[in-house]
Amino acid sequence: MGDTMNYSEVFNHRGQPYDMAMQLQPMARSQEFIQVIERAALLPGKRVADIPAGGGYLSDFLPSDCSWHGHEPSIGFTGNMINHGAEIQGADLLPLPWADDSMDVAISLAGLHHLQDKSALFADVRRVVRPGGRFVISDVEAHSPQAIFLDGYVNANNSTGHHGIFLDKSTEEDLASNGWACLSSEYVPFHWIFDDLECMGTFCRLLFDLRSDNLWGTVKAIETQLGVDDLENWKVGMRWGLRTIVVE
Ligand SMILES: C[S@@+](CC[C@H](N)C(=O)[O-])C[C@H]1O[C@@H](n2cnc3c(N)ncnc32)[C@H](O)[C@@H]1O
Repeated sequence: MGDTMNYSEVFNHRGQPYDMAMQLQPMARSQEFIQVIERAALLPGKRVADIPAGGGYLSDFLPSDCSWHGHEPSIGFTGNMINHGAEIQGADLLPLPWADDSMDVAISLAGLHHLQDKSALFADVRRVVRPGGRFVISDVEAHSPQAIFLDGYVNANNSTGHHGIFLDKSTEEDLASNGWACLSSEYVPFHWIFDDLECMGTFCRLLFDLRSDNLWGTVKAIETQLGVDDLENWKVGMRWGLRTIVVE
């Protein structure tokens, strides 16, 4: 199934359970959102583009004096009652729905790994972000434990399959050839945080739309392939990590 679906189709299927996971555990990915926002170096009054926005989850973590502008190409999130007012849903990813030089910062979190031609997106983000503005990309790194988990366990057990085009050296070359200068590029490890292992398994089964295996099989796969740490206040932390690239 995954071999024949394009990316928007994948999220027309997966958007709803993905969104249920995020509504059920809105703080689980908080460290992930915070690490991109920290690197965006936001100042009061800045206009922030979020591409692709999913259900607009990043907006909850932005400083309240910044304005959030989400673009989500999949209709899979449209049924969500709390879609945070994404300006356009169900439109093509490109062209981006904003005027030239109209954004101070653009953020792309966990969305590029299914996009074959990242270059066209990098060029259009360059168009909408004003000169001197930042673009922060954070996504799964090729050959990382997360990449292996997604294309292995998730691919074998979810509704759509999973075949990521993950970040690698060519991503930075693509950015440079579209007029972006690299400020930093690092693998950032963090946790997805849950009350207990059952909450972790339930969240991941929804987020990745896992249909085969069962809850405790999913928990076991996460423990053995990614790792789980005991955190303070009896929370559990699922090890996750992304390559985060900051360009301007
Ligand atoms: C893993 S979700 C990430 C959503 C959100 N940024 C987050 O962090 O929760 C991947 C997102 O990519 C979106 N998408 C769909 N088609 C796309 C395309 N052709 N190119 C890039 N992103 C696409 C999906 O709809 C979905 O919102």
